[in-house]
Amino acid sequence: MAGQVGVEDVQDVRERIERLREQIEYHNYRYHTLDAPEITDAEYDALFQELLHLEREHPELASPDSPTQRVGGAALEGFAEVTHRIPMLSLGNAFTPEQLRAWHARAVSLLDREVEEFTLEPKIDGLAVSLLYENGRLFVGATRGDGVHGEDITPNVRTIRTVPLTIKGAPSRLEVRGEVYLPKAAFEQINNERAVQGLPLYLNPRNTAAGSLRQLDSRITGQRPLAFFAYAIGLWEGAPLPQTQWEMLEQLSAFGFKTNPRNSLVHGIDELVERCLSWEHDRDRLEYEIDGVVAKINGRQLQEELGSVGREPRWAIAYKFPPVQATTMLRDIGINVGRTGSLNPFAILEPVKLAGVVIKLASLHNEEDIHRKDIRIGDTVVIQRAGEVIPQVIGPVVSKRTGAEREFAMPTTCPSCGSPVVKPEGEAMTRCTNDETCPAQQFEGLVHFVSRGAMDIQGVGEKLAAVLIQAKLVVDPGDLYSLEKEQLVGLDRMGEKSAENVLASIEGSKTRPFSRVINALGIRHVGERTAEILADRFGSMDRLLAASAEELTETDSVGPIIGRSVYEFLHTPRNLRIIAKLRAAGVNMEQHHVERGDLPLAGTLWVFTGRLERWTRGEAEARVKELGASIGDSVTKRTTHVVVGADPGSKAQRAQQLKLSVLDEDEFERIAGLPS
Ligand code: IVH
Repeated sequence: MAGQVGVEDVQDVRERIERLREQIEYHNYRYHTLDAPEITDAEYDALFQELLHLEREHPELASPDSPTQRVGGAALEGFAEVTHRIPMLSLGNAFTPEQLRAWHARAVSLLDREVEEFTLEPKIDGLAVSLLYENGRLFVGATRGDGVHGEDITPNVRTIRTVPLTIKGAPSRLEVRGEVYLPKAAFEQINNERAVQGLPLYLNPRNTAAGSLRQLDSRITGQRPLAFFAYAIGLWEGAPLPQTQWEMLEQLSAFGFKTNPRNSLVHGIDELVERCLSWEHDRDRLEYEIDGVVAKINGRQLQEELGSVGREPRWAIAYKFPPVQATTMLRDIGINVGRTGSLNPFAILEPVKLAGVVIKLASLHNEEDIHRKDIRIGDTVVIQRAGEVIPQVIGPVVSKRTGAEREFAMPTTCPSCGSPVVKPEGEAMTRCTNDETCPAQQFEGLVHFVSRGAMDIQGVGEKLAAVLIQAKLVVDPGDLYSLEKEQLVGLDRMGEKSAENVLASIEGSKTRPFSRVINALGIRHVGERTAEILADRFGSMDRLLAASAEELTETDSVGPIIGRSVYEFLHTPRNLRIIAKLRAAGVNMEQHHVERGDLPLAGTLWVFTGRLERWTRGEAEARVKELGASIGDSVTKRTTHVVVGADPGSKAQRAQQLKLSVLDEDEFERIAGLPS
């Protein structure tokens, strides 16, 4: 009965609470650390609710180790200082294979014996923290600080689901060190929410993790899905220490910590160098950011003999990747007019070096994005480069503002032709209204028309396109087909022979597949894939022109927005004139149904890996597809051809294992045939 709980009942409640805490922590561990839940969310919630209820009824049984405390608690006034009895070290860096080999050679020479075994661990770009457990219970969580003095952030680390609140079988005093980080997806979600609330955006997952961990109000930390990977031990009292780094990682995981499943044990410096290099390509595929990999000499005995210089152990080193972010000044915002008339802002930057390349320009998406991120001219901005793509402006460093920055406003007239611009309701893009004679649109349209995925007219590059438009020899792509040799000779210092080549490549384009012709027209929202669908579905230009808006919007995988855009394009006089010119010139206007079995590469299955010099991945794949081949994502026994470019991934290794023939770019071109 309420209010009359006897001693025995209290004992029962205590036991039930303890049992629930254990169960909940166990399921937490299954879910967050092992990624292998055993019960449903609803079952978990039921346990959690029961515990919450019992703890509320019996405040005297509250405990900081309870999983209910993971949501965070009362705000602090400030952080207390924590002294790390064993300093938290940092790492020396290697940026090249030579530096990595030099580090190894130095260790070998100091030890006067070979060093063969290393662990290789992804270097997560987060924050180092120390977790002290006393008799199996989390006692203090602290930041690294300067390595000796950190901040006590215990309530905050308690909210991290991959940090065990209690551990079993551990020495009486154990300090575990590792990295707190925020997964990329969580970072993006937090920023999306901030954007909706009109709050300034975070620049990268690391800053966000740092900001989240140093909240005085741990309830805020509790709302951020931070995670923790354990990688080292500090204090360890009351049991023998593991003899190698690898055993120590295994021990940590046996205690219930999450260690990185991508950690590996490596033999020999050659393998170490090779693995470090291949990690660089894999970094974008991870669900968290890494800025390098950490190599550690495995044997503890060797580690102790080597010791440290200052804060850097001689037995470990970080192989650092080129940074993907840098800061620089945004000098101005320029406008580029696209082929469909969209005004695309781009960043003009104070030149800055990033990953070995000097960057002067970067993309900015659209006007709304600039305002959403509150990017102002004159701001110090963070730019980011990922893989091969154009660098992007991520956002401003608001703390560096001087007050002299200017807000950006979209021009009201087209910077290319001076015509008024419009921004239709609900659209992100501002557009030039002059689709007839705007030189920028003419140029972009022509460049698209001659590009590889379209008419593939190799004799006409960007330079010649610009000259042809300026000389008014070409107003729209249809005019290419009426060019004459005399008009070309002398243009841009062109000789007779080059002029003949240009005309021959224009002539050669007349027999391109119908889908390429559709793509070449430059219809808004229509790329290679949609062009293929339209060519298959309608079969000829006549049928496409005769299609109603409904027929177009109801075509499978086309949909209303694209369908509407195609319909409007095909009912605009200027575009009809272009189509008429193409038709009169003899450009292919229908789909030729080739039996796929007759194509030269029918029945083959191709996989591409690494970068080719003369082809983008899309172009190379399109080429072999045209010849009847299929494309595979991964190398399997069914794969017939593997094309390997520069910096290939693991697919190349897999092909070797399966003893498949591997082609380089020249061999690929020989089989796939150069463009006619
Ligand atoms: S070991 C014994 N291992 O990198 C040396 N550090 O520049 C102590 N880090 O402060 C560090 N992943 O924040 C080590 N697997 C890993 C790591 C790692 C990330 C960070 C850590 C440290 C910094 C050193």
